Amino acid sequence: MRLKNKPWALPLIEANPQYVVTEPEKWRGKWSERFSQKQPLLIEIGMGKGRFIVEMARRDPEHNYIGIEVQTTATGIALKKQLEAQLPNLQLVCGDGNDLTEMFASNEVAGIFLNFSDPWPKKRHTKRRLTYRTFLKQYQQVMQKDGQLEFKTDNRGLFEYSLTSMNNYGMVFDQVWLDLHASEEVADNVMTEYEEKFSQKGQPIYKLAAHFTD
Ligand SMILES: C[S@@+](CC[C@H](N)C(=O)[O-])C[C@H]1O[C@@H](n2cnc3c(N)ncnc32)[C@H](O)[C@@H]1O
Repeated sequence: MRLKNKPWALPLIEANPQYVVTEPEKWRGKWSERFSQKQPLLIEIGMGKGRFIVEMARRDPEHNYIGIEVQTTATGIALKKQLEAQLPNLQLVCGDGNDLTEMFASNEVAGIFLNFSDPWPKKRHTKRRLTYRTFLKQYQQVMQKDGQLEFKTDNRGLFEYSLTSMNNYGMVFDQVWLDLHASEEVADNVMTEYEEKFSQKGQPIYKLAAHFTD
């Protein structure tokens, strides 16, 4: 969903290059230099307003985190959270995560989160879904062999599509939840902005964790 453009967002981003990268391809292969500690890197594509990635970085100081978001206003809102939290293990990217191989070198990433990705329900837009095979190929290229992809959504159609797409690609499912909030694992779950909105309406949240085989 497109947020209304906020005029303060771009100046705020430009004033905080220590936290936000606007030319991510320049850091390809050397993202670890942007963090105070060299440790495994987890990324979220389409972080929106950043609630998930900021909270993950806060709870888990033993990983580095990058939140990627194409919308300037959403990135600005996430940046406000990071300016308050000042987490040394969190960086934000204001840019298009459509081609991750331009942003990250092979094996540079230890894990990927997709949360409530745009569903693109029309058949003619299938190739835009972030779990379409061309995206899976990119994830496989940038992720380490033992890396995991985690995907949450409220959208049943996108979830069904993603299960099939990943299975056809040869991925292995580590766990699948058809109602995450009714499961034991909800205790450790970090909610996103969209997740809160949809779960409050009583909609089930679907989740999967999967890995590549080669
Ligand atoms: C439906 S929202 C979900 C936001 C957040 N993950 C949440 O769960 O609250 C999807 C977000 O993905 C972003 N997005 C979509 N395609 C993207 C891309 N290619 N690169 C970066 N961000 C993208 C959108 O701008 C939007 O903010």
